[in-house]
Amino acid sequence: MAKILVTGGTGYIGSHTVVELQKVGFDVVIVDNLSNSNIDVLAGIEKISGIRPAFENIDCVDYVSMDRMFEKHKDIEAIIHFAASKAVGESVEKPLLYYRNNLVSLINLLQLMPIHKVKNFVFSSSCTVYGQPDILPVTESAPIKAALSPYGNTKQVGEEIIRDTIYANSCYQSIILRYFNPIGAHASAEIGELPNGVPNNLLPFVTQTAIGLRKQLQVYGDDYNTPDGSCIRDYIHVVDLAKAHVIAVQRMLNKQTKSSVETFNLGTGRGLSVLEIIQTFEKVNGVKIPYKIVARREGDIEKVWADPSYANNELGWTATETLEETLRSSWVWEQNLAQRAKAE
Ligand code: NAD
Ligand code: WQD
Repeated sequence: MAKILVTGGTGYIGSHTVVELQKVGFDVVIVDNLSNSNIDVLAGIEKISGIRPAFENIDCVDYVSMDRMFEKHKDIEAIIHFAASKAVGESVEKPLLYYRNNLVSLINLLQLMPIHKVKNFVFSSSCTVYGQPDILPVTESAPIKAALSPYGNTKQVGEEIIRDTIYANSCYQSIILRYFNPIGAHASAEIGELPNGVPNNLLPFVTQTAIGLRKQLQVYGDDYNTPDGSCIRDYIHVVDLAKAHVIAVQRMLNKQTKSSVETFNLGTGRGLSVLEIIQTFEKVNGVKIPYKIVARREGDIEKVWADPSYANNELGWTATETLEETLRSSWVWEQNLAQRAKAE
């Protein structure tokens, strides 16, 4: 079976994708510099799939090391490029770190692909490229709005770099996947999200509050133009997201793509507010989440959720995990993390 390079493969979405790739028989090599993940994730993947993926501790920004990696793994047939820095707030403070890490790593891969005869490229993009859409649910043809952060800009510019490169060199093909808000963890609780320090994202903050690591959740505003005043997002189970990547790779390997660059929204099509997430989490898991309404967070958009019909129809992919199961999996994962911390 084909060998797939997964950059950022010990990360949150990457690790779940590696498991799904292995499940259908793909041979996986992970490149990750462990800047936002832990080598123990390999053991978690192996516990689930029975296969420890090949692992190269390399910085994708390091062209020479990446070139050597391709020399070593000569039979790579497709790349899924997850490796990037992703903290919006940090990107505002350290823009050059983000432009360098997220764009040089991408350019290196695109330059190395024709040299090593790799044609197929999946890119991790984000609904953040839409900003606050004028029309909801948002489709792939919605206008791209000025990025609200250097991080968001690296996704927009990254997509443009891919399109320009591929239109100049027909030897490649790419599928760009725009993720909405991935949450949850693998049902085994062997892998999940490992936020470094104080979580920026809602779900890890909710689960850490539930387990007592955080005193209180701050809800960033309830004065938005939404039914309960809190922001609305499209929360998608990370395993549903991972499965879409397998389909994307298979689509390219089977030469089923309809153009050299295809772009898909990966969401559930369901918008949920912050307060709805909290209430559902409490109900499903039988825990209380102490929270306080505070001022809006700079840069937050009011509401966004996907129209996933293009991915549903074209990829034959639909997010199937229920919200309840998704929120349950995030809680079980948090409890597992707490048990591991106690055992250490
Ligand atoms: P993550 O931080 O868990 O995983 C990223 C992985 O990439 C980490 O393991 C990190 O160590 C590695 N990495 C970073 N820079 C690297 C480099 N230069 N060389 C090698 N490895 C490097 O993040 P994630 O949530 O799994 O996100 C994966 C991708 O999806 C990212 O591109 C992110 O921008 C994108 N994305 C994430 C979300 C989200 O909410 N999590 C939403 C939309 C898009
Ligand atoms: C969701 C909602 C917050 C934390 C970000 C990035 C995006 C992508 C996903 C990488 C918002 C509210 C949050 C908290 C809160 N990442 N919230 N209290 O902002 O939709 O997207 O992560 O690609 O690019 O922008 O996700 O989880 O941070 O916030 O009230 O402690 O929860 O205001 O409405 P977001 P999030």
